[in-house]
Amino acid sequence: MTKKLKVATIGGGSSYTPELIEGFIKRYDEFPLTELWLVDIEAGKEKLEIVGELAKRMVKKAGLPIDVHLTLDREVALKDADFVTTQFRVGLLEARAKDERIPLKYGVLGQETNGPGGLFKGLRTIPVIVDICRDIERLCPDAWLINFTNPAGMVTEAVLRYTNIKKVVGLCNVPIGIEMGVAKLLDVEHSRIRIDFAGLNHMVYGLDVYLDGVSVKDKVIEMLTDPENTSFVKNIEGIGWEPSFIRALNALTCPYHNYYYKSQDMLEKTKKDAAEKGTRAEVVLKLEKELFELYKDPELAIKPPQLEERGGAYYSDAAVRLITSIYNDKRDIQPVNTRNNGAIASIPNDSAVEVSSIITKDGPKPITVGDLPVAVRGLVQQIKSFERIGAEAAVTGDYDKAVLALTINPLTPSDTVAKQIVDEMMEAHKEHLPQFS
Ligand code: G6P
Repeated sequence: MTKKLKVATIGGGSSYTPELIEGFIKRYDEFPLTELWLVDIEAGKEKLEIVGELAKRMVKKAGLPIDVHLTLDREVALKDADFVTTQFRVGLLEARAKDERIPLKYGVLGQETNGPGGLFKGLRTIPVIVDICRDIERLCPDAWLINFTNPAGMVTEAVLRYTNIKKVVGLCNVPIGIEMGVAKLLDVEHSRIRIDFAGLNHMVYGLDVYLDGVSVKDKVIEMLTDPENTSFVKNIEGIGWEPSFIRALNALTCPYHNYYYKSQDMLEKTKKDAAEKGTRAEVVLKLEKELFELYKDPELAIKPPQLEERGGAYYSDAAVRLITSIYNDKRDIQPVNTRNNGAIASIPNDSAVEVSSIITKDGPKPITVGDLPVAVRGLVQQIKSFERIGAEAAVTGDYDKAVLALTINPLTPSDTVAKQIVDEMMEAHKEHLPQFS
C-alpha cells in the first residue's frame, strides 16, 4: 500500500494555488503526495471551488494519484497532516486596499508588508495563525508548518515566540526571485547560482553571490546600478541605485529595499499609481477576477502564464523545494525564515531571521553569518524591533504597543502621525481586530 503523505493548505482558495499544484506535480518523484486538502473559509468558498477544480484537472492531466480534497472544515483538513501550508489573507484583498490607501493620506507609504500596511496585516493575521497553531498541536502535532502568509517575518516571529509549534518555517519568493533574476542577468542556469542570504523577510541582503562556486559579487553589484535590474519581483518597480551607494554597500539588495533607501521616490510613485491606476491591491483585484475567469474554463489544466504577473511568481518552486528537502533530509542550502539561534549575531536568538540554511528532516539549520556588515545592521535591527513589538501587539491587543511599533518603523515620520494612522486603521479594520475591541 502507498504510504500516506498528506498536505493541508490553509487559504486553499487563493489565486496562487495553481502555483503550488505545479510545484507538487513537478517534484512528485521526490515527494509522493497522496492527499492534498485545500481548506478555506465560507467567504472564500466560491474561489476554493473554482481553483480547487482546476487543481484536480492539473493533477489528472499529470496522471498522478494525488487525491485533492476541498473543504471548509479546517479540523478535517489538518487531521494527521504531514505538512501544513498557509497562504491566507484575513479580510481578503479589500483589507489590503485599505492598508495601502489609508497611510497615503498621512504622507506615509501604504504597502502590504511594509510600514503601517505590514503592521496591520500582522495585527489581523497573527491571532488567526496562533489559533491554527493550537489546532496543529491537537490534530497533527508532528506536522511541519510552512507559512507563506504575509507579513511572513512577523508571522513567523509570532509562531516562534507565542505558540508551542517548533516545526515552523516561513517562506518567501523574494530570495528565489533574486536568484533567478541574477541567473538571467548573467545568462546562466538558475542551478549554477548560489547566494549567501542574511537579514529578515523583505529586508534580506545577498552578502555574496557565486556562479559555479566562484564569487561574482562585484560584477552583479555593478549590474544593479541599472534601473532595469533593481527589482526581481513583478509588484515592485525598481528605480535604480546610485552607483556609489550600491558599490559601497557591497551587498545585493532585495526589491523591498527600494522603500527604505528610496523612501521619498517610492512614496511619490505609490501616490501617483494610487491616483492613476489604483493601489496594488486594487490592480490585483482586477487581475484576480481575470484569473478566476480563466480558472473556470473546464479545458484549462495547467497554471496559466498570467499568474506570473503576480508578485508571488515562483513561490511554488521555493515551497515545494523546501518541503521536498525536509521530507528527504536533503541537506541542501535554501534561504528560509527560521529561528536565528545565533546565526546572525546582531539579532536575538529566539527571533525569526531570513537566512541561508541547511534543510534537514529536523528543519532548517541556519548557516552562521556572525555580525551583519555595519552598513546594514542598524536597519535590520530596527525592522526586527518593529516586528517583535508588532507581534506582541497582535497577540496581546495592546494598543500602545501598536503605536510604538509603528513609530519605530523607519517609514513613519513621527509618533503623532503613527497614532493618527493607527486610529484610522483600527477603525477601518475593526471587524478583523477583535483583540483590540
Ligand atoms: C512579492 C512578495 C510576496 C507578496 C507578493 C505580492 O513577491 O515576496 O510576499 O505576497 O509580492 O504580489 P501581488 O501580485 O499580490 O502584489
